[in-house]
Amino acid sequence: MDQNAKKQAVAKAALTYIKADSVVGVGTGSTVNYFIDELASMKDRIAGAVSSSQASTERLKAVGIEVFELNDVDNLGVYVDGADEVTEHKHMIKGGGAALTREKIVAAVADTFICIVDNTKQVPLLGAFPLPVEVIPMARSYVARELVKLGGDPVYRQGVTTDNGNVIIDVHNLTILNPRELETSINNIAGVVTNGIFALRGADVVLCATEEGVKTFD
Ligand code: A5P
Repeated sequence: MDQNAKKQAVAKAALTYIKADSVVGVGTGSTVNYFIDELASMKDRIAGAVSSSQASTERLKAVGIEVFELNDVDNLGVYVDGADEVTEHKHMIKGGGAALTREKIVAAVADTFICIVDNTKQVPLLGAFPLPVEVIPMARSYVARELVKLGGDPVYRQGVTTDNGNVIIDVHNLTILNPRELETSINNIAGVVTNGIFALRGADVVLCATEEGVKTFD
């Protein structure tokens, strides 16, 4: 099974967590794009969606799913999103698609975070994937110097502006032994909006597509 077939399989598996008449939190990325396509098959049975990016909003609307503002939603049962890396503790690195801040906000509101990945994303330790950090533009150089002090090699993601009008620094060569501590430390640097470690609020369920089918870790 190739990687796209795995993404499609895990996207379909996530549908079992979607409740009738609910508003569904929708993440961002190529795996989530498959999920949006699957969700379209039950669009008449859900109330709509809250989206974590402009890209997902456009895709949701294109398949006929109503998109609500998060501020207008009282209750968000389930949030479905991909990840760049995920551990057995359900800690993740996210933000490869630069949508990490809105993803973290929607994940914070949701009762249940369903992470959908294929088995290439499973890692024993976070950090091989460069850690995305969303930064207020005027703080870019300062934040980069502070990230060096934390042991990383920061690289400015050229040509990318986030949906919030900010820039992304990707931090290479981190071995993340304590994800919760590092998530907090980086977020405490002035000028950082948020970073792509999702450990303080990790996933509740990881659905992972493998050659042998979709495995559930909860
Ligand atoms: C978007 O900013 C990311 O957090 C994505 O969720 C993550 O990069 C996974 O994307 P893919 O499903 O495309 O690998």
